[in-house]
Amino acid sequence: MRKNIVAGNWKMNNDLAQTETLLTALKNSTITSNAEVMVAPTFTNLWSAYNTLKDNAIEVIAQNMHFAENGAYTGEISASMLKSVGVKTVILGHSERRAYFNETDELLAKKTDAALANDMRVIFCFGEELADRKSENHEAVVGSQIKNALFHLEADAFKNIVLAYEPVWAIGTGETASPEQAQDMHAFIRKTLADKYGDAVADSVSILYGGSVKPGNAKEIFSKPDVDGGLIGGAALNAEDFFAIVNAF
Ligand code: G3P
Repeated sequence: MRKNIVAGNWKMNNDLAQTETLLTALKNSTITSNAEVMVAPTFTNLWSAYNTLKDNAIEVIAQNMHFAENGAYTGEISASMLKSVGVKTVILGHSERRAYFNETDELLAKKTDAALANDMRVIFCFGEELADRKSENHEAVVGSQIKNALFHLEADAFKNIVLAYEPVWAIGTGETASPEQAQDMHAFIRKTLADKYGDAVADSVSILYGGSVKPGNAKEIFSKPDVDGGLIGGAALNAEDFFAIVNAF
């Protein structure tokens, strides 16, 4: 069901002590909006984070997972292992996974299938490079990423899928997409869903924006009709900034 969501993607930041310090600050923060709030620590801190936040309204989520249930995949983590530490939601397809670890649409389709088969919720990331936008190819790129990885699914699967549009040129750069650019792409994404699955499914899916969301720009971005919240990187590492964004609805 479509909800307002703010998820903090901590990426490869915070050891156990730093995680506990940040989580304590988050626990002591007040949610004044209707947003669902999530944080994604690194794998090594998931159990600690789950136990710190389990009586709190902040969900602990994972940054990635493998498609296999178990086996000879050194360094990887499976859906069932994530569920065993209380994690029910996983980010997949982040541009950094696509760029640095060669994650293809085909691999991401397999990971999405594995997560859904384990009754997990998926925050599925996608977004164009600067060259795609400059050549006005950004909608074709985004449409292809979504269709190649998700359009084999039945309509019902989308009750467990959150979409996250993250223009690569806005991630970590301070170069945020304008609220109008975000709205235009989110509207395109929702129409792409509607063309395949119908309006009811398209209108039920939360579409998050990610890419240099900060306390100073969150309210205007989140005010757009097809923007349902944000996937936050750098600003999620500071409790005050993160909650300024959480409460920006
Ligand atoms: O997954 C969210 C992240 O890619 C956005 O990073 O630092 O631009 O908010 P940042």
